[in-house]
Amino acid sequence: MQKTLIWDIPTRLFHWLIVASLLAQYATVEWLENKVQWHFYIGYFTLFLIVFRIIWGFVGTQHAKFSSFITGPRTVFNYIKTLFNRQSEPAIGHNPLGGWFVVVMLVLLTIQAVSGLFMTDDIFLDGPYRQLAGEETLALMNTLHHLAFDVLLYVIALHIGAVIFYSVYKKQKLVPAMVHGNKESATAGITDSRILRAFVVALIAAAAVYMAIEVYPPAPQADEYYY
Ligand code: HEM
Ligand code: HEM
Repeated sequence: MQKTLIWDIPTRLFHWLIVASLLAQYATVEWLENKVQWHFYIGYFTLFLIVFRIIWGFVGTQHAKFSSFITGPRTVFNYIKTLFNRQSEPAIGHNPLGGWFVVVMLVLLTIQAVSGLFMTDDIFLDGPYRQLAGEETLALMNTLHHLAFDVLLYVIALHIGAVIFYSVYKKQKLVPAMVHGNKESATAGITDSRILRAFVVALIAAAAVYMAIEVYPPAPQADEYYY
């Protein structure tokens, strides 16, 4: 068995920045006073991270690609049968069950960030898409923004629980691998992190988010006053 690179730097950075962003998103509405403007900025950054990760899922390195960890139901089912087997061969990238879990997390994060664009703090600040939507859509987005976070909390708890299960029960060091990128494996991993490509993808993701929040939505209308 040799140490080999599995998780490229962009995927690892994405992961830990998403963790930090979610903590900050929670803090800016629940713990800190009058930090909703920061909640917006960090929300846009989270949106950027998600757009980046989705594109990276198509053009990134081998184990970051969706095609490498989105598998059919039979593969997932066969994997589940080996779940409690301590001797089962560790997955090189995401395992078939974990792969679907990643998809669920990305979908929830997308719902959370997009629904945020329609939110208001009911005092000064309106999300950039608030003017675009009717009452019903706004109510739906409000519900989604609250609900998706509650669901996310359970999903994150399960995610961390699963990581602990693999570390303690299966003795697989998944967390260090998400930090330094390497795993012990008989099969060769990736040769490099494709940083230049990641940089181009990051520029595209940033441009897409900028267009979506600054260029596309109509300028906020001035309130109408009646004298
Ligand atoms: C806000 C909380 C968290 C969120 C939203 C989150 C989300 C994710 C996502 C989306 C992935 C897939 C990475 C990718 O392919 O791009 C992932 C993988 C991973 N996360 Fe987290 N994560 C969170 C917290 C944590 C924490 C606290 C730990 C460490 C204890 C952790 C450890 C890992 C590990 C080890 C993997 C790789 C799993 C594997 O080997 O298949 N995560 N996480
Ligand atoms: C993934 C990113 C995001 C996360 C994790 C997140 C999380 C949250 C949470 C936990 C709450 C509190 C909900 C409650 O009270 O039950 C909240 C409220 C809110 N969010 Fe987000 N949010 C995100 C993105 C955004 C974005 C992009 C915007 C706007 C551009 C936004 C605007 C708001 C507003 C206006 C509120 C209500 C604040 C208040 O009650 O004063 N959020 N968000």
